Amino acid sequence: MPRRFMAEKAGAGAGAGAWLAMLLVMLMLLHQPVQAQRTCGVCTFQVVSGQVLNKTVGGDCGTGCTVLDLEDFGFSSIADGALTASDLTSMTQLYMGTNQLTSIPTSISELTSLTYLYLNNNYLTSIPDGFFDKLTNLTRLDLSGNQLTTGDPLLCSCPAGFFPQLSLGLYTCQPCPPASFKSAPGTANCSACSTSPCDVGQYRQACNSTRDGECGECTNKMAGETVYVGSGYPYDQNACAWDCKAGYMLRMDESCSAYCEMV
Ligand SMILES: *[C@@H]1O[C@H](CO)[C@@H](O)[C@H](O)[C@H]1NC(C)=O
Ligand SMILES: *[C@@H]1O[C@H](CO)[C@@H](O)[C@H](O)[C@H]1NC(C)=O
Ligand SMILES: *[C@@H]1O[C@H](CO)[C@@H](O)[C@H](O)[C@H]1NC(C)=O
Ligand SMILES: *[C@@H]1O[C@H](CO)[C@@H](O)[C@H](O)[C@H]1NC(C)=O
Repeated sequence: MPRRFMAEKAGAGAGAGAWLAMLLVMLMLLHQPVQAQRTCGVCTFQVVSGQVLNKTVGGDCGTGCTVLDLEDFGFSSIADGALTASDLTSMTQLYMGTNQLTSIPTSISELTSLTYLYLNNNYLTSIPDGFFDKLTNLTRLDLSGNQLTTGDPLLCSCPAGFFPQLSLGLYTCQPCPPASFKSAPGTANCSACSTSPCDVGQYRQACNSTRDGECGECTNKMAGETVYVGSGYPYDQNACAWDCKAGYMLRMDESCSAYCEMV
């Protein structure tokens, strides 16, 4: 009886050992990154030793590389040449959230086609001034969950035509609302377009998101001995009041003739 009991005990012990080994294997498997590499166009990215992100396949990533998802990939820095603008000319969306970046990779500032940039949940403490100046198509920038020292919504430097807005931790560059503009990149908000009348003979041309409505020459007057006597009316229409020059008078057909002709 004691013998059988011992045998049973030994058997139970062996079973527990096997379970423990299996559990360890499972834990090891779980601990490995879900994907060992991420691809973008013809390129492949991988995290090499020391939590360094590197491009392991491909030189020029080609036009097929438009969206690069490096979310939750376990890197803290990026190898030289792994994210160069010349290779990534078509990249419009870059997801780098949930990694261990302590500084923003410089090369990102050259990825001029970017529209979405996610850098949320890293360890960024600052963003260099004017960093996003060349990213003129950037409309969405997520810097939430970092250690940026200021909660200033204007931290996000937006391209010309866009103003920075912070909502629920997400910094976005919103297009200037109609009738407002921002001519230079930066942290400024959009300004209302000018609506004041222009000088005589000029009207205010259309304003767009990057340029205030400037005064341009009216072209509505009749050819001949005519002269403008007012500015665009309404202020933004190529419709300036005009009259005949001194010494001329307006005829029924809206042409101007010298007084003597009428005699
Ligand atoms: C990154 O990859 C390139 C090309 O494969 C290699 O030359 C370079 O040494 C790598 N850098 C790091 C930090 O691993
Ligand atoms: C920005 O977007 C516009 C409109 O989609 C596009 O024509 C232009 O090429 C883009 N600029 C860059 C640098 O990708
Ligand atoms: C910027 O301007 C927009 C539109 O006029 C406005 O909604 C927004 O609150 C402004 N942002 C700041 C930070 O003033
Ligand atoms: C705004 O107008 C200017 C001048 O007409 C033009 O150069 C610029 O490209 C326009 N910007 C946008 C965003 O349409």
